[in-house]
Amino acid sequence: MAIRHFLDLSDAGGNAIAAMLNDAIDRKAARGGWPRGKADRDEPLSGHVLAMIFEKSSTRTRVSFDVAMRQLGGTSLVLDSATTQLGRGESIADTARVLSRMVDAIMIRTDDHAKIEEMARHATVPVINGLTDRSHPCQIVADLLTVLEQGKALPGLELAWLGDGNNVLHSMLEAAALMKFNVRIGTPRGYEPDGDFVALARASGSQVTLTNDAAEAVAGADIVVTDTWVSMGQDHTHNKLAAMAPFQVSDALMSLAKNEARFLHCLPAHVGEEVSESVFEGSQSVVFDEAENRIHAQKTILLWCFGTL
Ligand code: CP
Ligand code: NVA
Repeated sequence: MAIRHFLDLSDAGGNAIAAMLNDAIDRKAARGGWPRGKADRDEPLSGHVLAMIFEKSSTRTRVSFDVAMRQLGGTSLVLDSATTQLGRGESIADTARVLSRMVDAIMIRTDDHAKIEEMARHATVPVINGLTDRSHPCQIVADLLTVLEQGKALPGLELAWLGDGNNVLHSMLEAAALMKFNVRIGTPRGYEPDGDFVALARASGSQVTLTNDAAEAVAGADIVVTDTWVSMGQDHTHNKLAAMAPFQVSDALMSLAKNEARFLHCLPAHVGEEVSESVFEGSQSVVFDEAENRIHAQKTILLWCFGTL
């Protein structure tokens, strides 16, 4: 079997994503209220080690991958790039080849997407994208799981995205293409997502609306999503924040979505910027289910990478 890297959702494809979501639902249910560090009964990754490389900060991705490996019967270790030789200029190619002799999989969070492609070219173990400037596929598996838990089907779902056209939106558009849902994107002019992701979703039959009118984007939506206006590595400019202000997810905007609409945010949130406190803390917000689901998503992504799904 070819090495299964998970650099983007399309590496797995729609059928595998559907299987992953089913597996995540089953594994989550089977655990009930067990302590988080206790392994699943089958310990499918017993003896396996995951190395995690962080060139950017992380709370959820770091903790959820670590706990995921424990629940699958394996272990993980974190490499802070600043204190490794990678931080002193050792090449990605050599790092990939060395780690491939020492661990069973590599997760990397970095800036330039080309770096994880380079890592995957040289690694002989699976490489997982833990976020790049271009995409954040692991987050979207958790988001889809959260949508399903809310009793909503993916095909035909109307998902509204407000704010910055960023890495998380790119992976959401890829998911729309694979799982056949529609995305209405409300951004200020100049902050639209990369056109390649829009084209990919449209080519697969998904409807993608691009608008500069926040109300138009959320009208009738099943799910409303936003993310920070300033991603890691970007400049915090006054002009950008001013342009984003009309796209704050507020009670007024949520009231235009369906009554049973839900609010998602990958976190960390900047309450008072991209989302009002009342929406973030309100009854339609499922952001902490979404955060918990990172564990269940990482587990099924790991199982897919190891060929056991
Ligand atoms: N959502 C997410 O990836 O969170 P962290 O940056 O904390 O990993
Ligand atoms: N778009 C955000 C996501 C953080 C999880 C960023 O890249 O900083």
